[in-house]
Amino acid sequence: MRKKVTVVGAGNVGATTAQRIVDKGYADVVLVDVIEGMPQGKALDMLQSGPVTGSDAYVAGANTYEPTANSDVVVITAGIARKPGMSRDDLLLTNMKIVGDVTRQVAPRSPNAVLIVVSNPLDAMVQHAFKVSGFPKQRVVGMAGILDTARFRTFLAQELKMSVTNIQAHVLGGHGDSMVPLIGSTSAAGVPVSQLISMQRLDEIVKRTQNGGAEIVSLLKTGSAYYAPSAAVEQMVEAILLDRKSVLPCAAYLEGEYGITGLFVGVPVKLGAEGVESVVQVRLTSEEDAALKKSAAAVRELVEIMEKKTR
Ligand code: NAI
Ligand code: 2OP
Repeated sequence: MRKKVTVVGAGNVGATTAQRIVDKGYADVVLVDVIEGMPQGKALDMLQSGPVTGSDAYVAGANTYEPTANSDVVVITAGIARKPGMSRDDLLLTNMKIVGDVTRQVAPRSPNAVLIVVSNPLDAMVQHAFKVSGFPKQRVVGMAGILDTARFRTFLAQELKMSVTNIQAHVLGGHGDSMVPLIGSTSAAGVPVSQLISMQRLDEIVKRTQNGGAEIVSLLKTGSAYYAPSAAVEQMVEAILLDRKSVLPCAAYLEGEYGITGLFVGVPVKLGAEGVESVVQVRLTSEEDAALKKSAAAVRELVEIMEKKTR
């Protein structure tokens, strides 16, 4: 029997994520949205791509949660997306309510699932889903670091005129302007990038990475990125369902790792059948360590705003 994935929010990120999973064919998908007919229509369209792509995976749309029961992975993309001029943090209270409501629906129906949260502001939304679900920390994780790292790797590969597959990099911290692309441990075909690109140019690439989401919002004008985000989510789903034990940067609950406690922040984790199987410690320079702590402090501010709201 194939594994089962629920994707909540059948908008740009959710539908594209569902399509990527169905195309690969390793899991059946239930796509849920509040808009009547929309997830059903998208699911039927995706299902009919199977004879062409060669996938037998089943995909169904729904406006209720009964069909999501006993999912192995639940991806939450429900919420509103950024418009030009909006920061991810502007989304906080609206998406907090949506993510809370969705979590209350999915968690009891799929008590053994791994929850992957995508809605923004990412780190705060994962923290909220963790609290509402009551799931153990291993089974609640956020997607952002893979996307931020992919952007960083893309810009470095363009600069070096080299395959993206040759670039190894980590972007840690919260999914916001204070995210921390690590220069010290970034390499191109094994050579540290600091030996290949000037510091001034690297600084520009770091800033472009930190602004990567806003750059796309300003071009699209009516929404935010979804091709690279959905590729990142699919990589996480696959790592879990195929028990790959892939080391990927994700938002994970820290209890002392990297000197941070009681908070979801982007760090490299080992993702496998159990969810977040461990947090991987990479050596940070003192500057990178300070930047990570600063980024975590920005996440904590949002979490405190949410806590005041729920008191
Ligand atoms: P979208 O607007 O295309 O889709 C969101 C969908 O959620 C809509 O179809 C809407 O009807 C649905 N929805 C709203 N409330 C719902 C509820 N209570 N239950 C079920 N569905 C509900 O937005 P898009 O582009 O798909 O982005 C989704 C979220 O993901 C946004 O918050 C966005 O900021 C975030 N995002 C996060 C990224 C990350 O790196 N973590 C990357 C890209 C987007
Ligand atoms: C992004 O980074 C909007 O968070 C989303 O593209």
